[in-house]
Amino acid sequence: MTWNYSQKTTELFMNAVRGGPGSHMGEIADPDGLGEHGSIACGDALRFTFRVNRHPSDPRLDVITEARYLTFGCTSAIAASEALCAIIEEGSYTPIGALKITNDDIVRYLDGLPQQKIHCSVMGAEALEAAVFNWAQRRGVNLAELGIDIQRDEQEEGRLVCTCFGLTEPYILRKIRELELRTIPDITNAIKAGGACMSCHHTPGGLQDLLDQVWGKQPTMLRELPVLPTARVPAERPRSELSPYKFAKEVERVIDQQVRPQLHKDGGDLELVDIKDLIVYCRLVGACSDCVAGGQTLKLLVERALKDEIDERIRVVAV
Ligand code: FES
Repeated sequence: MTWNYSQKTTELFMNAVRGGPGSHMGEIADPDGLGEHGSIACGDALRFTFRVNRHPSDPRLDVITEARYLTFGCTSAIAASEALCAIIEEGSYTPIGALKITNDDIVRYLDGLPQQKIHCSVMGAEALEAAVFNWAQRRGVNLAELGIDIQRDEQEEGRLVCTCFGLTEPYILRKIRELELRTIPDITNAIKAGGACMSCHHTPGGLQDLLDQVWGKQPTMLRELPVLPTARVPAERPRSELSPYKFAKEVERVIDQQVRPQLHKDGGDLELVDIKDLIVYCRLVGACSDCVAGGQTLKLLVERALKDEIDERIRVVAV
């Protein structure tokens, strides 16, 4: 799938991957604030660090002078991270002031992002929030006393709603409210929940129930309709815009060109077993077949390459 990126997004991405002047890709050693968001297993992860100019008597007046990021993600994840760092550095924000930066600010800085990539800007805002929480702990600033509520443990403690992306009920509820998400596609675009197997959409306690909990039950027309077993409509499954034949050929091409050469270096190979909609079933063979890092290889190498080249929604499943 080809994404329609703005010129600004493309420029920031190209400059970052080339290590050009002004790029913020990297990590600050011994930072004053460090925050992470996402997970490599889910295809996107961001590590954000910043340094402050310390105020001699009131840490609340520290000013962020430098911001850096490391990300495992696509073009828009890198460009959104660049935008976040640039906004912070250009604005001479205090860490508390930086909390006002929203994912909308990041999208504006990039002159827009495709709807399906909005989650990259949300990831930046979340990592910033985590870094400010970390700075406050290091500098002894009580955020709660200032009326700032950053819930860092909601991912660990909540009921798991979307198992594909490891997202919990408290986190999804907070994002529904904060970002005013009204439909399941809104949720998927913003935080990826519901973007893979879709089994969390209409299950009891699933995404639609959480939307109803926040906004009340919407008239049927405004909701994403569940597929009724008797309805003569196709089952609700994510599909490629390519025909099944072309999609399979694209998968084979990416595996041949990008995956196999890497595996061959270690004496391994990949067997493509089946493709069903956007799920690619494959098996590592040769020297890779009993490698303890096989699962990581499938996620980091195979799935990432297929997502980047063909469709961000692809999942690779080991068989
Ligand atoms: S459980 Fe949510 S997309 Fe699979």
